[in-house]
Amino acid sequence: MKKTNKLLLGLTALLLISTTITSCRGDSKSDKPQELGSKPDISAWEMENGFGMVKTKLNLPPINPELAKKGEKLFESKCASCHKLDEKYAGPAQRDVLRRISPEFFINMVINPDENIEKHPHIKELLGIYMLKMTNQNVNFNDARQILEYFRLLESELPSKTN
Ligand code: HEC
Repeated sequence: MKKTNKLLLGLTALLLISTTITSCRGDSKSDKPQELGSKPDISAWEMENGFGMVKTKLNLPPINPELAKKGEKLFESKCASCHKLDEKYAGPAQRDVLRRISPEFFINMVINPDENIEKHPHIKELLGIYMLKMTNQNVNFNDARQILEYFRLLESELPSKTN
């Protein structure tokens, strides 16, 4: 008789424990709302001009050849390891870059590549092609402005778009 009692007690305890575990599990699994893949919205301004310190249209004066010459030197020292003018290299060919992007976007990309790589559809697309992230070259606004002048000069020498 004693043996049966012990067995019964044991069984009851086991049952109790297992129900407690099951109910606890049930409680902790509260229904959390599913996180939706949130896509950061991009404004029309950002689409045209990228992300960075330039937040208004630059009022660009006529091309200054001296500034462009300084820009050419900067391009050769800071950019030519990855960019050629006329062929794809580690990054896209740059002679006609201002036919692809606005001057404001150019400066924002050169000063602030990381954020543009992360957020801008045009740059993300390039990343998919080149499989390399453009590195920050620690270029300040003045440097970027000079490099821009170089590309404005090159763009002005290109055959016109309609041809
Ligand atoms: C380490 C290699 C590397 C260096 C150095 C580099 N770039 Fe890039 N650049 C890239 C790659 C790769 C891309 C394509 C986007 C990406 O994958 O990050 C790119 C994209 C760009 C774009 C985007 C617009 C377009 O359509 O081509 C501009 C503008 C640009 N680079 C200018 C420059 C300038 C100016 C410098 C020098 C200050 C420079 N880059 C230095 C690799 C580089």
